[in-house]
Amino acid sequence: MIIRICFIYAWSNQNASDPSSFNAKARKLLRELAKQASERPKMYKSGRLRIGEGRTIYGLAQCSRDLSGSDCKQCLDDEVRRQPDCCDGKQGGRVVSGSCNIRYDVSQFFNA
Ligand SMILES: *[C@@H]1O[C@H](CO)[C@@H](O)[C@H](O)[C@H]1NC(C)=O
Repeated sequence: MIIRICFIYAWSNQNASDPSSFNAKARKLLRELAKQASERPKMYKSGRLRIGEGRTIYGLAQCSRDLSGSDCKQCLDDEVRRQPDCCDGKQGGRVVSGSCNIRYDVSQFFNA
C-alpha cells in the first residue's frame, strides 16, 4: 500500500536580507522546537530565536495528538527538511501535512 502524504506550503512575500544565513537559523529553531514538541503529551511547542540586529525568528511545531512521540519527531523533521523547497529566502513560511505542521515568521504569530 502506498500512503500518499500531501504537504501544503505557504510563505511570506518578504525576502530575508541574508537568505542563506536566515534559512539556516530558521531551521535551527524549528529543529529544536520539533524535538521539544515530540515529547508527549505536549505535541506542541512555540519559541523564538534572536538573530541579532534586534531581529527575532518566531516558530512553532505541532503534531496531531494521535501520533507517537517518535512519529511526531519524524514528521516534523521531514517538514523542516522541506523548508528550503518551500520558503527559501523568505521571512516566513509554513509546511503543513495531515499529521504535523511547522511555521516560522519574523513577526510573532502565536500568543506568548
Ligand atoms: C524577492 O526576491 C525575488 C527573487 O529575487 C524577487 O523576484 C521579488 O520581487 C522579491 N520580493 C520582494 C517583496 O522584494
